[in-house]
Amino acid sequence: MARDGAVFVCQTCGGVHTKWSGQCSACGGWNSLVEEVQSRPPGALAPARSSKTRGLNFETLEAQAPPPPRLSTGLEEFDRVCGGGLVPGSAILLAGDPGVGKSTLLLQACASAAARGAACAYISGEEAVEQIRARALRMGAADSPVKLAAETSLRDILDGLKRERFDLVVVDSIQTLWSDAHEAGPGSVTQVRAAAGELIRWSKKQGVAVILVGHVTKDGQIAGPRVVEHMVDAVFAFEGERGYPFRILRAAKNRFGATDEIGVFEMSDAGLREVKNPSALFLNDGGERSSGAAVFAGIEGSRPVLVEFQALVAPSAYGTPRRAVVGWDSGRLAMVLAVLEARCGLGFGDRDVYLNVAGGLRISEPAADLAAAAALISSALDTPLPQDCVVFGEVSLSGDVRQVGRMEARMKEAAKLGFSRALAAPAAADGSPLAVTGVARLAEAVQRIGDGAWD
Ligand code: TYD
Ligand code: MG
Repeated sequence: MARDGAVFVCQTCGGVHTKWSGQCSACGGWNSLVEEVQSRPPGALAPARSSKTRGLNFETLEAQAPPPPRLSTGLEEFDRVCGGGLVPGSAILLAGDPGVGKSTLLLQACASAAARGAACAYISGEEAVEQIRARALRMGAADSPVKLAAETSLRDILDGLKRERFDLVVVDSIQTLWSDAHEAGPGSVTQVRAAAGELIRWSKKQGVAVILVGHVTKDGQIAGPRVVEHMVDAVFAFEGERGYPFRILRAAKNRFGATDEIGVFEMSDAGLREVKNPSALFLNDGGERSSGAAVFAGIEGSRPVLVEFQALVAPSAYGTPRRAVVGWDSGRLAMVLAVLEARCGLGFGDRDVYLNVAGGLRISEPAADLAAAAALISSALDTPLPQDCVVFGEVSLSGDVRQVGRMEARMKEAAKLGFSRALAAPAAADGSPLAVTGVARLAEAVQRIGDGAWD
């Protein structure tokens, strides 16, 4: 039984239980319940003040002033993902694997914003001030007027922030903070929630943009409670495959901008470099395109990006064939394989299938279905696609190839990069700068690629 006023809180989903058990009944996670003391007894609550409503059109005069301008960090790729700069009084959670470059990105954003006159503070609970300085030195930003602090106590941080006026405050990371008003240890649900809550309240009140760094667990979840995701205005993920220099900043939630926008960076010896035109970044150029490769003409946010899908279909040595996929959804791969099998007579039952998106990019557009399918077909039939061909289209369970959005932008970019033909839904042919091989059904694509007759 719990002590008086104590409950058991799941560290994965934030579910609250009155009794301990080995499994959380809310999310099904094992060994995730931890006893936590509710900090305030019910009798200690202040009397309610009734809240007031206000017209959407802001009828009061003082509210008619325009909203404060967004704070541009000067890192174009970062500002784009924010929706055009940071909104004063907003809170952002930046999540990513350890070592992906979160601290580097934010220190760089601070330095860049500070160079443009913004007052920025970088508070680290993980590194000493000297370490942060050493990093800044490496990035060539050692003379930047960013204020640094190495601190983990929430009360000390908030007290320190009172002394100066800031436009942007970065807290690296939310899991290292602790508030002495709570008994639970740093990193626990209670502490993370309390620290995030207080910082967000402070930021709204002061009109300061706050960026919180959040660690992710092995399976990619933001450690600590999901509730932090609901508390903040925006959740950004910073992604990158190990071994590749490219890093992608992506918005998973954004109250002030589109969520499909990405920022592309390249990690170098001197910090992150912005990649302003990433369309050709993920192409494997040089040499013949071998069988199993297909270039997808994709759209990431507002920009076209061409990326190579690589497939390998090989005889399976084991009873259960392997399916491995990097950079694409494994459920989507299973679906495309099933459609190829059931609608096109191309069997994969006794073959291992590997699918890889080049350059470490993660693709989530349904328009990539046909590109993945083309790579699989090309590998299965051991026939390469033409060197100058891009592929895009959504594949339905019935085996139809559907047209997708932004076709013009996709093809224009492909034409710019020297491609001259496209494999896509027939509707793509209208006014296209490329020679379009229209396929209404996936089976036609199998036929086309198998015949190798494209003209
Ligand atoms: P870091 O920002 O510390 O990652 P995170 O805060 O997400 O854990 O980045 C760490 C990695 O970045 C580290 O492996 C070294 C690399 N790095 C560079 O390659 N060049 C640089 O200039 C810097 C500062 C880091
Ligand atoms: Mg870090």
